[in-house]
Amino acid sequence: METLLALEMVRVTEAAAIASARYMGRGDRMGADHAATEAMRRTMDEVEMRGTIVIGEGERDKAPMLWIGEPVGMRKDDQLEVDIAVDPLEGTNLVAEGQGNAITVLAASERGGLLHAPDTYMEKLCVGPIAAGQVDIRVSATENVERIARALRRQPTDITVVILDRPRHEALIAEVRATGARIKLITDGDLSGAISCAVSGTGVHAVMGVGGAPEGVLTAAALRCLGGEMQARFRFRSPEERARAETMGVNVDEDRVYTTLDLAPGENLVFAATGVTEGDLLNGVRFFGGGARTHSLVMGYQTKQVRFVDTVHMFDRERPPAVRL
Ligand code: FBP
Repeated sequence: METLLALEMVRVTEAAAIASARYMGRGDRMGADHAATEAMRRTMDEVEMRGTIVIGEGERDKAPMLWIGEPVGMRKDDQLEVDIAVDPLEGTNLVAEGQGNAITVLAASERGGLLHAPDTYMEKLCVGPIAAGQVDIRVSATENVERIARALRRQPTDITVVILDRPRHEALIAEVRATGARIKLITDGDLSGAISCAVSGTGVHAVMGVGGAPEGVLTAAALRCLGGEMQARFRFRSPEERARAETMGVNVDEDRVYTTLDLAPGENLVFAATGVTEGDLLNGVRFFGGGARTHSLVMGYQTKQVRFVDTVHMFDRERPPAVRL
C-alpha cells in the first residue's frame, strides 16, 4: 500500500503548495488556505483509492471540502480503503505574511491507523530518534532538556527547543531559558518544527508546548516514519470542545499521555509534505516562465524510506521551461 500511495500523495501536497504559494505575502490567509484545500481536494480524486478524511478542514456543516468523513479518491470497488489526515496549509499566516516554513501536509494509513483527533489543543513534546525513549512529558521541561542533552552527549546550552510564541507559553519559555538551552520561537508551524527536530542538521532538538491537536496526529505520523517520538496530552479550550471529543470516542482525561503509537498506530503509514515558503527543511515553491519547482518530503513506515523529492512542473507543453539541475 505504501509504495503505491507515496508518490501519489506527494502529487497531492505539491498541487496544494503550488496553488497556495501564489498567495505569498499578499495578506490573504483565507485565500491561501482555500487555494491549498481546493487543489488538494481536486488532486486527491485522481488517486486510485477509497479514501476517507479523518482529520480535515472541520465538520461537514462548517467546511466546504475536506471535511471529516468526506469520501475522497477514485473510489472504485477494488481499490484500497485509506484513512487520510490533512493540513492543506500548515502556516496560513506564514504564507499571508511572506514568512518561511509554511508547508502542505498529508498522512495516509489503513483504516483506523490515525487517531480521529478533535479540533482542540494538545500539549506536545517531540524529539528526534536519538532522544526517543528518554523523555517524559510528565516531568518538568528542565528535566526533559537535561535528558535530551544527555542523550545527544551535549550540555543543555547546546540544545535548541522550538516553542510557539504565545502568551500561554510564558512560564515554559522562562523555564527553558533558565536551563541555558536556546529557544527558537516560532509564530506558527509546530508540525514543521517537530519534523525538523527528527532530521539531523536542522539545528533544532525538541518541540515543547501547546498547539493544535490535528497537527499533533500528523506530527506523530511523521515521527513514526523518522524514528522520533511524540508525547501529548489533550488541552481543551472549552467544555464544548471536551464534549465534542467525547462524542468522537477520544479519552478526554487531560492526564492521559498519548504516545506516538497512540496518535498514529497505522502499520502502513505514508507521510507527505511540500514546502510552500522557504523553510529550514524544505525549499519553498519557485515559479519561473511556464513552470514551477517544488521540494517535498515523502516517507513510508513499512518501506523505511525517506525521500526528498525535487520536482519541476511544466504548466505548458507548447512552451516548456528549461529544466535546470
Ligand atoms: P494553521 O494550520 O491554521 O496555519 O495553524 C498553524 C499552527 O501554528 C500550528 O502549527 C499550531 O499547532 C497551531 O496553529 C497553534 O494554534 P494557535 O495559533 O491557536 O496557538
